[in-house]
Amino acid sequence: MPTCVIDGREVEFVPGQNLIEVAKKVGVEIPYYCYHPGLSVVAQCRMCSVEIENVPKLQPACATLPKSGMVVKTRSPRAVQNQKAVSEYLLINHPLDCPICDKSGECDLQDYSFEYGDPHTRMTEERRTYVDLDMGPVIVKNMNRCIHCTRCIRFGIEVAGIHEMVATERGNWTEISTIDGRPLETDYAGNYADICPTGSLLLKDFRFKRRVWFLKKTPTTCEACARGCNMEIHQDGNVIYRCVPRENLEVNKYWLCDEGRFNFHYIHDKDRVVAPMARLSGKLEVTNWDRAIEAARETMNAKKPAILVGSDLTQQEAVLLRDEFLPRKFPGAPFFHFGTPEIISSKDDGPADKILKRKSRTANLHGLEKLGYNGFEKLPAGTDAVLIVRGGRAVLPELKLSKIVGIGVFKRKEVESFAAVLPGVTFAEKDGTVVNFQGREQTFRRAVAPPDGCKGLPEVLMTWINHKEGAR
Ligand code: SF4
Ligand code: SF4
Ligand code: FES
Repeated sequence: MPTCVIDGREVEFVPGQNLIEVAKKVGVEIPYYCYHPGLSVVAQCRMCSVEIENVPKLQPACATLPKSGMVVKTRSPRAVQNQKAVSEYLLINHPLDCPICDKSGECDLQDYSFEYGDPHTRMTEERRTYVDLDMGPVIVKNMNRCIHCTRCIRFGIEVAGIHEMVATERGNWTEISTIDGRPLETDYAGNYADICPTGSLLLKDFRFKRRVWFLKKTPTTCEACARGCNMEIHQDGNVIYRCVPRENLEVNKYWLCDEGRFNFHYIHDKDRVVAPMARLSGKLEVTNWDRAIEAARETMNAKKPAILVGSDLTQQEAVLLRDEFLPRKFPGAPFFHFGTPEIISSKDDGPADKILKRKSRTANLHGLEKLGYNGFEKLPAGTDAVLIVRGGRAVLPELKLSKIVGIGVFKRKEVESFAAVLPGVTFAEKDGTVVNFQGREQTFRRAVAPPDGCKGLPEVLMTWINHKEGAR
């Protein structure tokens, strides 16, 4: 492999990688703003300029491919002077409002200014100011913090496939906005906040909720479609505040769709069933686990029961059901997976757009099929009771039946006709694996504890198996 020298260290490089990426491999940080590995290179901020031996001018590392034997200096006096000059220039109009900015603590502008900039400013003129712009349901823009890096414009055109962000006016008054200030249209708008290197584009959903340094991060997988984008859950005090993408070039690159990003809200929804329920004296009421299990068992003590299993369950849960619970409690009963209307089998799954989304709106359709589950179309004739086991995301089929028992995550209005509900845990409250449309087995990791009244599926099934009649 060819090598070059960066700050005195010999580095092997893969031809085609730019100097920023090659330097990262040996732990040398080259500061940058306009560069993003998922976008085209425009080399306009000049923060990444480095000195290269035998090249008269500083060169932008983002737009420079190393050559064998090249000698690069990222901290030479000229490179350092440039970093200070660019930092000072970018802060000329910046309001320096880090204490009230949600990006603070994870802001490239803050970090690089601190690390590479000069603590003094010569700016004495009045700063350029704008009012915040509401960009629709997902993003709010604070133009005062913008450094004109154009990442957002390129993200719209190159990734989201929509030219909705533009630069208007010129020079010092260049303004980044949507055309005519219209709301953003893309279903991937949350990524604008991720890629903005300052606090100029922020998620409305997260703004003013929690300082980022309080957040605990759990790497996991999105459950909201069969792609299984890699992401992190950020929580504090057992409350999830946001989900952000985790880089995986083979699955989701650097991105998340908005549906997946904001899917977590149902976990803390006030309407979620978080205590066992049973139909007692004709009315569905909150009760204790013994009564609820007894009601569930009585209801399912039918001539022709059927079992519907959400394709939002993990592989481990599905195996437990298939190999332990169903043979013991419902030997011979038919069982099916369900999850997305019209998507009966993995053959029905496919791209739902040109970016990431899949038609199957649950994470484990492909995994359940591998385990031998068949897709649900209609109940076998004569079915007189149905047990639904669900993670929280699978869309419930319409069932015209009075004997229904639910295990898992439900909203109150979904269970109005049920005979019993045994509340379970969501993808963020358990560990397990799911298989995406590529056949890749990926992991759900427990980020928060479930509400007190909810139990993981293994515990619910064991409680059911071991339940003694009349125990209350
Ligand atoms: S809004 Fe953010 S991403 Fe867009 S140009 Fe300004 S600083 Fe860059
Ligand atoms: S594309 Fe699918 S897996 Fe990815 S974030 Fe969206 S819903 Fe989640
Ligand atoms: S990151 Fe290289 S010029 Fe902006």
